[in-house]
Amino acid sequence: MFFLTLLAFAVGCQAKANANTPQMGWNSWNTFKLNFNESILEKTADLLVSTGLRDAGFNYLIIDDGWQAATRAEDGRQQVNATKLPNGIAPIAKYAHERGLKIGIYSDAGIYTCGFQPGSWGYEELDAATYAQWGIDYLKYDNCGSFQAGTQSPPERFSKMRDALVASGRDIFYSLCEWGHQFPWYWADQIGQSYRMSGDITAIFSDTGKDCACKTAYCLNTGYAGCSVLTIIRKMREIAPFSKPGSFADMDMLEIGNGNMTLHQQRTHMSFWAALKSPLIIGADISKLSKESLSVLKNKNIIQISQDSLGKAALFVPELSVEKVKQVWAGDLSGGRTVVLLLNELNSTQNFELLVKALPALNSRETWKVEDVWSKEVIKVKGNYTVAVETHETKVLVFSRN
Ligand code: GAL
Repeated sequence: MFFLTLLAFAVGCQAKANANTPQMGWNSWNTFKLNFNESILEKTADLLVSTGLRDAGFNYLIIDDGWQAATRAEDGRQQVNATKLPNGIAPIAKYAHERGLKIGIYSDAGIYTCGFQPGSWGYEELDAATYAQWGIDYLKYDNCGSFQAGTQSPPERFSKMRDALVASGRDIFYSLCEWGHQFPWYWADQIGQSYRMSGDITAIFSDTGKDCACKTAYCLNTGYAGCSVLTIIRKMREIAPFSKPGSFADMDMLEIGNGNMTLHQQRTHMSFWAALKSPLIIGADISKLSKESLSVLKNKNIIQISQDSLGKAALFVPELSVEKVKQVWAGDLSGGRTVVLLLNELNSTQNFELLVKALPALNSRETWKVEDVWSKEVIKVKGNYTVAVETHETKVLVFSRN
Protein backbone atom coordinates (compact mmCIF):
# COMPACT_ATOMS: atom_id res chain seq x y z
CA MET A 1 0.00 0.00 0.00
CA PHE A 2 2.79 2.35 1.01
CA PHE A 3 4.55 1.75 -2.30
CA LEU A 4 1.32 2.29 -4.26
CA THR A 5 0.99 5.65 -2.57
CA LEU A 6 4.58 6.45 -3.51
CA LEU A 7 3.90 5.45 -7.10
CA ALA A 8 0.90 7.75 -7.23
CA PHE A 9 3.16 10.63 -6.29
CA ALA A 10 5.87 9.72 -8.74
CA VAL A 11 3.72 11.25 -11.48
CA GLY A 12 3.33 14.59 -9.67
CA CYS A 13 5.62 17.40 -10.67
CA GLN A 14 7.89 19.23 -8.27
CA ALA A 15 7.47 22.91 -7.41
CA LYS A 16 9.75 24.76 -9.78
CA ALA A 17 12.21 26.74 -7.62
CA ASN A 18 15.81 26.26 -8.74
CA ALA A 19 17.80 24.08 -6.39
CA ASN A 20 20.76 22.77 -8.33
CA THR A 21 22.91 23.49 -5.29
CA PRO A 22 21.83 23.46 -1.61
CA GLN A 23 20.11 26.59 -0.30
CA MET A 24 21.89 28.91 2.16
CA GLY A 25 20.49 31.38 4.66
CA TRP A 26 19.49 32.08 8.26
CA ASN A 27 16.53 30.74 10.28
CA SER A 28 15.04 32.21 13.47
CA TRP A 29 14.23 28.95 15.28
CA ASN A 30 17.40 27.65 16.93
CA THR A 31 18.15 30.90 18.73
CA PHE A 32 14.82 32.68 19.12
CA LYS A 33 12.23 29.85 19.11
CA LEU A 34 8.81 31.60 19.28
CA ASN A 35 10.30 34.83 20.68
CA PHE A 36 11.34 37.00 17.74
CA ASN A 37 9.90 40.24 16.46
CA GLU A 38 10.11 42.65 13.55
CA SER A 39 13.16 44.43 14.85
CA ILE A 40 15.12 41.17 15.33
CA LEU A 41 14.27 40.10 11.76
CA GLU A 42 15.21 43.47 10.24
CA LYS A 43 18.40 43.63 12.27
CA THR A 44 19.29 40.13 11.09
CA ALA A 45 18.69 41.18 7.47
CA ASP A 46 21.10 44.08 7.98
CA LEU A 47 23.65 41.82 9.66
CA LEU A 48 23.53 39.28 6.84
CA VAL A 49 24.64 42.14 4.60
CA SER A 50 27.16 43.92 6.88
CA THR A 51 28.97 40.73 7.96
CA GLY A 52 29.44 39.66 4.34
CA LEU A 53 27.33 36.53 4.90
CA ARG A 54 24.89 37.46 2.14
CA ASP A 55 27.75 37.90 -0.31
CA ALA A 56 29.19 34.57 0.82
CA GLY A 57 25.88 33.00 -0.31
CA PHE A 58 23.61 33.09 2.78
CA ASN A 59 20.74 34.85 1.04
CA TYR A 60 17.53 33.47 2.62
CA LEU A 61 16.09 35.11 5.76
CA ILE A 62 13.71 32.45 7.09
CA ILE A 63 11.01 33.18 9.66
CA ASP A 64 10.28 29.92 11.48
CA ASP A 65 7.30 29.03 13.70
CA GLY A 66 5.73 31.79 15.82
CA TRP A 67 4.84 34.44 13.23
CA GLN A 68 1.13 33.43 13.25
CA ALA A 69 -1.76 34.67 15.38
CA ALA A 70 -3.45 32.01 17.52
CA THR A 71 -6.51 31.82 15.25
CA ARG A 72 -7.41 32.27 11.61
CA ALA A 73 -9.46 35.27 10.42
CA GLU A 74 -13.18 34.85 9.64
CA ASP A 75 -12.41 34.33 5.97
CA GLY A 76 -10.04 31.51 6.95
CA ARG A 77 -6.82 33.40 6.28
CA GLN A 78 -3.83 32.87 8.52
CA GLN A 79 -3.17 36.01 10.55
CA VAL A 80 0.09 37.48 11.78
CA ASN A 81 0.90 37.84 15.50
CA ALA A 82 0.27 41.56 16.00
CA THR A 83 2.51 41.92 19.04
CA LYS A 84 5.61 40.47 17.43
CA LEU A 85 5.00 41.69 13.89
CA PRO A 86 2.65 44.72 14.09
CA ASN A 87 3.10 45.59 10.42
CA GLY A 88 2.65 42.06 9.12
CA ILE A 89 4.96 39.99 6.95
CA ALA A 90 4.87 41.93 3.67
CA PRO A 91 6.99 44.89 4.93
CA ILE A 92 9.62 42.45 6.25
CA ALA A 93 9.67 40.70 2.88
CA LYS A 94 10.16 44.10 1.23
CA TYR A 95 12.90 44.99 3.72
CA ALA A 96 14.73 41.74 2.89
CA HIS A 97 14.26 42.13 -0.87
CA GLU A 98 15.63 45.68 -0.78
CA ARG A 99 18.79 44.24 0.76
CA GLY A 100 19.27 41.59 -1.90
CA LEU A 101 17.88 38.82 0.31
CA LYS A 102 15.02 36.38 -0.16
CA ILE A 103 12.41 35.73 2.49
CA GLY A 104 11.20 32.44 3.91
CA ILE A 105 8.27 31.50 6.12
CA TYR A 106 7.14 28.39 8.03
CA SER A 107 3.93 26.39 8.16
CA ASP A 108 2.83 22.83 8.81
CA ALA A 109 1.10 19.93 7.04
CA GLY A 110 -1.18 19.30 10.05
CA ILE A 111 -3.83 21.18 11.97
CA TYR A 112 -1.22 22.69 14.29
CA THR A 113 2.40 23.67 13.89
CA CYS A 114 4.89 22.27 16.39
CA GLY A 115 4.49 25.52 18.38
CA PHE A 116 0.67 25.00 18.43
CA GLN A 117 -0.12 27.75 15.92
CA PRO A 118 -2.68 27.10 13.15
CA GLY A 119 -1.22 24.71 10.57
CA SER A 120 -2.05 24.68 6.85
CA TRP A 121 -3.81 21.30 6.56
CA GLY A 122 -7.11 21.92 4.74
CA TYR A 123 -6.07 25.51 3.91
CA GLU A 124 -3.19 24.82 1.53
CA GLU A 125 -4.39 26.88 -1.44
CA LEU A 126 -5.45 29.85 0.64
CA ASP A 127 -2.19 29.86 2.60
CA ALA A 128 0.04 29.49 -0.47
CA ALA A 129 -1.86 32.36 -2.14
CA THR A 130 -1.43 34.48 1.00
CA TYR A 131 2.30 33.79 1.15
CA ALA A 132 2.65 34.65 -2.54
CA GLN A 133 0.80 37.91 -1.94
CA TRP A 134 3.20 38.80 0.87
CA GLY A 135 6.20 38.24 -1.43
CA ILE A 136 7.42 35.00 0.16
CA ASP A 137 10.19 33.11 -1.68
CA TYR A 138 10.60 30.01 0.53
CA LEU A 139 8.37 27.75 2.61
CA LYS A 140 9.60 25.42 5.36
CA TYR A 141 6.75 22.95 5.85
CA ASP A 142 6.62 20.92 9.06
CA ASN A 143 4.83 17.73 10.13
CA CYS A 144 3.30 18.34 13.58
CA GLY A 145 -0.40 18.30 14.43
CA SER A 146 -1.11 15.65 11.84
CA PHE A 147 -3.45 13.70 14.14
CA GLN A 148 -6.76 14.71 12.54
CA ALA A 149 -5.01 14.46 9.20
CA GLY A 150 -3.68 11.06 10.24
CA THR A 151 -5.44 9.13 7.52
CA GLN A 152 -3.37 11.00 4.96
CA SER A 153 0.24 9.97 4.52
CA PRO A 154 3.02 12.57 4.62
CA PRO A 155 3.59 12.31 0.84
CA GLU A 156 -0.09 13.18 0.32
CA ARG A 157 -0.12 16.08 2.78
CA PHE A 158 3.18 17.51 1.55
CA SER A 159 2.10 17.14 -2.11
CA LYS A 160 -1.05 19.19 -1.48
CA MET A 161 1.07 22.14 -0.48
CA ARG A 162 3.40 21.55 -3.46
CA ASP A 163 0.39 21.85 -5.78
CA ALA A 164 -0.85 24.93 -3.92
CA LEU A 165 2.56 26.60 -4.23
CA VAL A 166 2.62 25.91 -7.96
CA ALA A 167 -0.95 27.25 -8.26
CA SER A 168 0.02 30.44 -6.38
CA GLY A 169 1.94 31.51 -9.47
CA ARG A 170 4.99 32.59 -7.43
CA ASP A 171 8.31 30.75 -7.53
CA ILE A 172 8.46 29.50 -3.94
CA PHE A 173 11.25 27.21 -2.75
CA TYR A 174 9.76 24.23 -0.90
CA SER A 175 11.69 22.85 2.08
CA LEU A 176 10.14 19.74 3.67
CA CYS A 177 10.48 19.16 7.40
CA GLU A 178 9.29 15.62 8.07
CA TRP A 179 12.27 14.63 10.29
CA GLY A 180 13.01 11.48 8.26
CA HIS A 181 10.28 9.43 9.95
CA GLN A 182 8.73 8.07 6.78
CA PHE A 183 12.03 7.95 4.91
CA PRO A 184 11.49 11.02 2.69
CA TRP A 185 14.65 10.26 0.73
CA TYR A 186 12.43 7.81 -1.22
CA TRP A 187 9.68 10.29 -2.14
CA ALA A 188 10.59 13.91 -1.38
CA ASP A 189 12.28 14.45 -4.75
CA GLN A 190 8.79 14.44 -6.31
CA ILE A 191 7.59 17.13 -3.95
CA GLY A 192 10.12 19.73 -2.81
CA GLN A 193 13.71 20.84 -3.11
CA SER A 194 15.02 19.62 0.26
CA TYR A 195 13.89 17.35 3.08
CA ARG A 196 14.90 17.14 6.72
CA MET A 197 16.36 13.70 7.45
CA SER A 198 16.47 13.79 11.27
CA GLY A 199 14.96 15.27 14.38
CA ASP A 200 16.14 18.69 15.53
CA ILE A 201 19.83 19.30 15.88
CA THR A 202 21.26 20.51 19.18
CA ALA A 203 24.45 22.54 19.71
CA ILE A 204 26.32 19.48 21.00
CA PHE A 205 29.06 17.83 19.00
CA SER A 206 29.31 14.25 20.29
CA ASP A 207 26.63 11.66 20.86
CA THR A 208 25.95 11.95 24.60
CA GLY A 209 24.12 8.62 24.67
CA LYS A 210 20.94 10.55 25.47
CA ASP A 211 20.65 12.39 22.20
CA CYS A 212 18.07 11.76 19.48
CA ALA A 213 16.30 8.43 19.71
CA CYS A 214 17.10 7.44 16.13
CA LYS A 215 20.78 7.13 15.40
CA THR A 216 20.46 5.29 12.10
CA ALA A 217 18.39 6.16 9.04
CA TYR A 218 15.82 3.35 9.28
CA CYS A 219 15.10 3.51 13.01
CA LEU A 220 11.35 3.67 13.69
CA ASN A 221 11.33 5.49 17.04
CA THR A 222 9.28 8.68 16.68
CA GLY A 223 11.00 10.52 19.57
CA TYR A 224 13.21 12.89 17.71
CA ALA A 225 14.73 16.02 19.18
CA GLY A 226 18.22 16.86 20.37
CA CYS A 227 20.43 15.21 17.76
CA SER A 228 24.15 15.87 18.07
CA VAL A 229 26.33 16.79 15.12
CA LEU A 230 27.97 13.32 15.12
CA THR A 231 24.61 11.51 15.26
CA ILE A 232 23.30 13.41 12.26
CA ILE A 233 26.50 12.60 10.37
CA ARG A 234 26.03 8.93 11.39
CA LYS A 235 22.51 8.87 9.94
CA MET A 236 23.74 10.29 6.64
CA ARG A 237 25.68 7.08 5.88
CA GLU A 238 22.51 5.54 4.45
CA ILE A 239 20.84 8.76 3.28
CA ALA A 240 23.63 10.67 1.48
CA PRO A 241 23.44 8.48 -1.67
CA PHE A 242 19.88 9.77 -2.29
CA SER A 243 20.82 13.47 -2.38
CA LYS A 244 20.92 15.03 -5.82
CA PRO A 245 20.48 18.41 -7.49
CA GLY A 246 16.90 19.53 -6.92
CA SER A 247 16.46 17.26 -3.87
CA PHE A 248 18.94 17.56 -1.03
CA ALA A 249 18.83 15.87 2.39
CA ASP A 250 18.62 18.63 5.01
CA MET A 251 20.83 17.90 8.05
CA ASP A 252 19.09 20.76 9.92
CA MET A 253 20.36 24.19 10.90
CA LEU A 254 24.03 24.97 11.51
CA GLU A 255 24.79 25.27 15.23
CA ILE A 256 28.07 27.08 14.57
CA GLY A 257 28.11 30.00 17.04
CA ASN A 258 25.67 28.26 19.42
CA GLY A 259 26.80 26.20 22.41
CA ASN A 260 30.46 25.60 23.22
CA MET A 261 31.90 23.79 20.26
CA THR A 262 35.67 24.02 19.76
CA LEU A 263 37.05 25.45 16.54
CA HIS A 264 37.75 21.94 15.21
CA GLN A 265 34.20 20.84 16.07
CA GLN A 266 32.68 23.89 14.34
CA ARG A 267 34.83 23.26 11.27
CA THR A 268 33.87 19.57 11.26
CA HIS A 269 30.19 20.59 11.42
CA MET A 270 30.62 23.01 8.49
CA SER A 271 32.75 20.55 6.47
CA PHE A 272 30.19 17.74 6.66
CA TRP A 273 27.17 19.95 5.96
CA ALA A 274 29.02 21.34 2.91
CA ALA A 275 30.45 18.12 1.49
CA LEU A 276 27.24 16.11 2.09
CA LYS A 277 25.32 18.88 0.30
CA SER A 278 23.01 19.80 3.16
CA PRO A 279 21.32 23.19 3.04
CA LEU A 280 23.50 25.67 4.97
CA ILE A 281 21.10 27.57 7.23
CA ILE A 282 22.63 29.52 10.11
CA GLY A 283 20.82 28.94 13.42
CA ALA A 284 22.82 31.38 15.58
CA ASP A 285 22.09 34.98 16.56
CA ILE A 286 24.29 36.73 14.01
CA SER A 287 24.81 39.73 16.32
CA LYS A 288 26.53 37.41 18.79
CA LEU A 289 28.75 35.40 16.43
CA SER A 290 32.43 35.40 17.41
CA LYS A 291 35.01 36.27 14.73
CA GLU A 292 36.03 32.61 14.78
CA SER A 293 32.50 31.29 14.11
CA LEU A 294 31.90 33.91 11.43
CA SER A 295 35.08 32.91 9.65
CA VAL A 296 34.06 29.22 9.75
CA LEU A 297 30.70 30.11 8.18
CA LYS A 298 32.23 32.38 5.54
CA ASN A 299 35.08 30.11 4.46
CA LYS A 300 35.01 30.49 0.67
CA ASN A 301 36.63 27.16 -0.15
CA ILE A 302 34.21 25.17 1.98
CA ILE A 303 31.26 27.06 0.51
CA GLN A 304 32.58 26.24 -2.96
CA ILE A 305 32.41 22.54 -2.06
CA SER A 306 28.79 22.99 -0.92
CA GLN A 307 27.88 24.87 -4.06
CA ASP A 308 29.85 22.69 -6.49
CA SER A 309 27.99 22.38 -9.78
CA LEU A 310 27.83 18.54 -9.65
CA GLY A 311 25.65 18.68 -6.50
CA LYS A 312 26.87 15.21 -5.39
CA ALA A 313 27.05 14.36 -1.70
CA ALA A 314 30.23 12.78 -0.32
CA LEU A 315 29.70 9.15 0.77
CA PHE A 316 30.95 7.12 3.73
CA VAL A 317 33.99 4.90 3.04
CA PRO A 318 33.57 1.95 5.45
CA GLU A 319 36.89 0.29 4.47
CA LEU A 320 38.85 3.22 5.86
CA SER A 321 36.65 4.02 8.88
CA VAL A 322 36.60 2.57 12.40
CA GLU A 323 33.36 2.87 14.44
CA LYS A 324 33.56 5.70 17.03
CA VAL A 325 37.26 6.18 16.19
CA LYS A 326 37.62 7.61 12.70
CA GLN A 327 35.51 8.29 9.64
CA VAL A 328 36.46 8.72 6.00
CA TRP A 329 34.02 10.11 3.46
CA ALA A 330 34.70 10.89 -0.20
CA GLY A 331 32.80 12.45 -3.07
CA ASP A 332 33.09 13.74 -6.60
CA LEU A 333 33.44 17.42 -7.38
CA SER A 334 33.25 19.08 -10.78
CA GLY A 335 36.37 19.10 -12.95
CA GLY A 336 37.30 15.51 -12.12
CA ARG A 337 38.25 16.47 -8.54
CA THR A 338 37.52 14.43 -5.41
CA VAL A 339 36.87 15.69 -1.90
CA VAL A 340 37.97 13.46 1.00
CA LEU A 341 36.93 14.07 4.62
CA LEU A 342 38.97 12.61 7.49
CA LEU A 343 37.20 12.92 10.85
CA ASN A 344 38.96 12.06 14.10
CA GLU A 345 36.44 11.12 16.82
CA LEU A 346 39.08 10.44 19.51
CA ASN A 347 40.35 12.79 22.21
CA SER A 348 43.88 12.59 20.83
CA THR A 349 45.56 13.11 17.46
CA GLN A 350 45.60 10.07 15.18
CA ASN A 351 47.03 9.20 11.79
CA PHE A 352 44.87 8.31 8.82
CA GLU A 353 46.32 6.15 6.11
CA LEU A 354 44.67 6.77 2.77
CA LEU A 355 44.95 3.61 0.76
CA VAL A 356 45.12 3.49 -2.99
CA LYS A 357 42.84 0.47 -3.11
CA ALA A 358 40.00 2.13 -1.14
CA LEU A 359 39.91 5.58 -2.67
CA PRO A 360 39.31 5.87 -6.39
CA ALA A 361 41.02 9.27 -6.45
CA LEU A 362 44.27 7.64 -5.44
CA ASN A 363 43.73 4.57 -7.50
CA SER A 364 46.22 5.33 -10.23
CA ARG A 365 49.90 5.79 -10.81
CA GLU A 366 49.42 9.50 -11.28
CA THR A 367 50.63 12.24 -9.01
CA TRP A 368 47.76 14.14 -7.43
CA LYS A 369 47.61 17.70 -6.22
CA VAL A 370 46.04 17.69 -2.74
CA GLU A 371 44.70 20.86 -1.21
CA ASP A 372 43.94 20.97 2.53
CA VAL A 373 40.90 23.24 2.45
CA TRP A 374 41.09 24.67 6.00
CA SER A 375 44.87 25.17 6.19
CA LYS A 376 45.20 26.04 2.47
CA GLU A 377 48.33 23.86 2.21
CA VAL A 378 48.89 22.19 -1.14
CA ILE A 379 51.02 19.09 -1.57
CA LYS A 380 51.77 16.49 -4.25
CA VAL A 381 50.84 12.88 -3.54
CA LYS A 382 51.45 9.58 -5.30
CA GLY A 383 50.01 6.32 -3.93
CA ASN A 384 49.23 5.66 -0.25
CA TYR A 385 49.41 8.68 1.96
CA THR A 386 49.29 9.35 5.73
CA VAL A 387 47.72 12.40 7.40
CA ALA A 388 47.67 13.42 11.09
CA VAL A 389 44.26 14.66 12.28
CA GLU A 390 43.69 16.36 15.64
CA THR A 391 40.86 15.74 18.16
CA HIS A 392 37.45 16.24 16.52
CA GLU A 393 39.13 17.82 13.53
CA THR A 394 38.06 17.01 9.97
CA LYS A 395 40.70 17.35 7.30
CA VAL A 396 39.02 18.31 4.07
CA LEU A 397 41.29 17.36 1.17
CA VAL A 398 40.56 18.17 -2.44
CA PHE A 399 42.38 15.91 -4.90
CA SER A 400 42.92 17.09 -8.44
CA ARG A 401 45.07 15.82 -11.28
CA ASN A 402 48.19 17.82 -11.68
C1 GAL B 1 10.16 21.37 14.53
C2 GAL B 1 11.21 21.61 13.47
C3 GAL B 1 12.09 22.76 13.94
C4 GAL B 1 11.22 23.99 14.12
C5 GAL B 1 10.08 23.70 15.08
C6 GAL B 1 9.07 24.85 15.16
O1 GAL B 1 9.34 20.32 14.13
O2 GAL B 1 11.97 20.44 13.28
O3 GAL B 1 13.13 23.01 13.01
O4 GAL B 1 10.72 24.40 12.86
O5 GAL B 1 9.37 22.54 14.71
O6 GAL B 1 8.00 24.59 16.03
